Amino acid sequence: MAKAAKVLLNVPAIKADFPIFERTVHDRRLVYLDSAATSQKPKQVIDAMTDYYTRYNANVHRAIYELGEQATREYEGAREKIAAFIQAKSPNEIIFTKSTTESLNLVAYGYGVKGRLQKGDEILGTVMEHHSNHVPWHFVKDLKGAVLKYVDVNEDGTLKMEQYDELLTNRTKIVTVTLCSNVLGTINPVKEIAKRAHEVGAVCVVDAAQAAPHLAIDVQDLGADFLAFSGHKMLGPTGIGVLYGKEERLQEMEPLMGGGEMIREVHLGTAKWNDVPFKFEGGTPNMAGAIGLGVAVDYLNKIGMDNVRRHEVELTEYALEVLSDVKEFHGFGLTDATRRGGVISFTLGDVHPHDIASILDIEGIAIRSGHHCAQPLMERLNVPATARASFYVYNTPEEVDRLAAGLRKVLDVFA
Ligand SMILES: Cc1ncc(COP(=O)(O)O)c(C=O)c1O
Repeated sequence: MAKAAKVLLNVPAIKADFPIFERTVHDRRLVYLDSAATSQKPKQVIDAMTDYYTRYNANVHRAIYELGEQATREYEGAREKIAAFIQAKSPNEIIFTKSTTESLNLVAYGYGVKGRLQKGDEILGTVMEHHSNHVPWHFVKDLKGAVLKYVDVNEDGTLKMEQYDELLTNRTKIVTVTLCSNVLGTINPVKEIAKRAHEVGAVCVVDAAQAAPHLAIDVQDLGADFLAFSGHKMLGPTGIGVLYGKEERLQEMEPLMGGGEMIREVHLGTAKWNDVPFKFEGGTPNMAGAIGLGVAVDYLNKIGMDNVRRHEVELTEYALEVLSDVKEFHGFGLTDATRRGGVISFTLGDVHPHDIASILDIEGIAIRSGHHCAQPLMERLNVPATARASFYVYNTPEEVDRLAAGLRKVLDVFA
C-alpha cells in the first residue's frame, strides 16, 4: 500500500480558479496530466487579457494618450515582475519573445551566428535536450562551422558530469543545458555546470521551459548567461516567452528582427539600434500576452514557489510509488522525487504509448505520448516513444490514483 501523499496546497480553491475544470471529458471529470506540454490558465490570467482588450487596448511605447500610456505601464510592469521572479539584476535583462523556442533561436543566431562565434568554436550540449535546444545549434554549426558536442546520460537519467569535464575545453564557447528535462524530469546541476563553463571562458545558456513553472529560479545564483522559458507552461498565455540575458551578454548579441521599437534611428540603407532589451523586440509585441504572463507570475507568487515545488515533490513521490505497483510499468529517470521535476515518462509492457493515451482519454485523463520533441534522447534510451504524465498546482493524489486505475484498464484491454 502506497503512503498517502500530503496535500500541501489548497487544491480545491486553486482548481476553482481554472474554468476548464468545470467541463467534463467523455462524461468524466477532467484529470489533466499534461502540464509539461502546456498548463491550464486561471481566470485571473484570462481576465487580465480581456481587460487589456476591452479597456486599454493600444500600442505600447509610442502613444501619447491615456490608453497607450496605460498599456505601456502594464507591459513594462510585467517585465519588472518577471525580472523579480527570476532574480534578474534589472528588467533590462528581460526580453519578451514568443516562446522558449524563439528565445533559444535568438541566442543561437544573435550571439552565435551574427555575434561571437568563429569557425571551429565548440558548443557543448547534452543528449537530453528538447529539439528547441538542439536544432538552433545545428544552424550555428551549418552557418558558422561550429562543432557540436554532447554530454551523455547515466542509466538513472543524470548527466555524466565526468564526461562534461572531459568535453569542456578552452575551445568551448557555449554550454547549453536544460535545467529540468521534459522527459526524464532530471534537475541538472546548472550552477556547477555554469561555474565550470565560465572557468574555460564559455557562456552558459539555460533552457528553463520545464523549470521556471515549478522551481524558484535565481539567475544570478545559477550563473546563467542566458535563460529561456515560455509563458504557456506556467499558467500564462500562449505566444509569450522570455529570454533573460546578463546585460553584458545582451550588449554582445545582435538583433534578428528589424523594425518597430528596436531602432533608435533609421536612414536609407543604415540604422542604429535601440538600447537593450528593446533592440531585440522588433515590431508590435504581444502586449496582452506579456500582461497575462505578469498576472500568472503574481498567481504563482501568491502560492509561493517553494510551496509549488513541495506540492510537486509530494505528488511525484506518491506517483512513483503508486505507479510502480502497476504491472509492467517502467518509469524513466531518478526515483528520488527531490532531484527531479513532476514529469514521469513511462512504458507499460509493449503497449504503444499512443494506445495508452487513447484509452486514458476515454477515462477523462489527459497524458502525453510520443517522442516529446526529444528524439536524440529517445534514441539514447532505445525507445521509439514513451507515455508521459506531468503534474502542476491543480493536481491531487486522487488523480494519481485515477491514472494508476486507468493504466490497469489499459493492461486489461491488451491482456
Ligand atoms: C525542455 C523544453 N524546452 C523547450 C521547449 C519548447 O517550448 P515552446 O514550445 O514553448 O517554445 C519545451 C516544450 O515542451 C520543453 O519542454
